[in-house]
Amino acid sequence: MKKIDISTSAFLYENFEELSKDIQNLMQQAVEAREKAYAPYSKFYVGAALLLENGEIITGNNQESAAYPSGMCAERVAIWKAGSEFPGVKVQKLAISASSKTHVVSSPIGPCGACRQTLSEYEINQKEPIEIYFMGAVGKVVKTASLLDLLPFSFDSSNL
Ligand code: THU
Repeated sequence: MKKIDISTSAFLYENFEELSKDIQNLMQQAVEAREKAYAPYSKFYVGAALLLENGEIITGNNQESAAYPSGMCAERVAIWKAGSEFPGVKVQKLAISASSKTHVVSSPIGPCGACRQTLSEYEINQKEPIEIYFMGAVGKVVKTASLLDLLPFSFDSSNL
């Protein structure tokens, strides 16, 4: 038996203003999408904005259900919207912002495990990394250069 060390890296921006103008614009789209989320149960509002290689920005937000497990995260709403409207068009960047009706979300909120798995399907298929930026409502922003930086030991079609 031997130990394997897996390393990954992320970049930390002190705040929204430290982002480039292009990324601020993408993050702003995520914030606007977040405001339109349907989250009456958790009161946790998430918005996602994807920049496609054709210049389109596709947004999504979380959609909850009284039957709780039937709800859906913002990131998957956005990526499936992109995949259904623009099949085969590469995704370059993803911005995510989260807020709550009950407290100020000041730590960066990354995509959940199921969203990471879903996003990895698209990144692997397109053979180009998706840059991910995520934040709360205020405060620091985390960037990873690739979705796979968030998902070591990922499962993909080559494992089937
Ligand atoms: N949520 C997202 O939209 N994205 C995530 O990556 C984490 C969680 C949503 C799902 C649910 O509507 C609410 O946040 C609380 O979990």
